[in-house]
Amino acid sequence: MKIVYASRTGNVQKLIDRLGVEAVKITNGDEKVEGDYLLITYTDGAGIIPKTVEQFIAANREGLKAAAVSGNSERHPDTFCGAAEKLEVKYGVKIIAKFEKDGYESVDQAIKALL
Ligand SMILES: Cc1cc2nc3c(=O)[nH]c(=O)nc-3n(C[C@H](O)[C@H](O)[C@H](O)COP(=O)(O)O)c2cc1C
Repeated sequence: MKIVYASRTGNVQKLIDRLGVEAVKITNGDEKVEGDYLLITYTDGAGIIPKTVEQFIAANREGLKAAAVSGNSERHPDTFCGAAEKLEVKYGVKIIAKFEKDGYESVDQAIKALL
């Protein structure tokens, strides 16, 4: 499965770099991908899906099969990884991981298992 990701401050980018996998970065939401993909995204203000990610999904809805979501529980305890629940409810996508910042070994493994 392809990996598509969004990273604003570098945490998800760090995860992608550590995995050493090919991945498509969402920058303005206008990107197009063919086939199934795993979305890895950060959580934005008050637990929402970033706007550029929403735009991207609107144009690439069919291929969205799974998602992994980054957040920060120290700064945002009440809405930690809130984008995950929204992705699940709005798009019926399977959430394979919710994690702090750039993640950890179990996140790497969950992602690798889908590739
Ligand atoms: C404006 C802003 C709002 C955020 N809101 C949330 C939030 O509601 N819940 C959460 O878990 N993390 C929140 N975060 C934290 C980011 O999702 C987290 O730091 C993530 O690892 C960032 O990934 P990136 O560095 O790849 O952009 C927020 C960060 C910013 C800058």
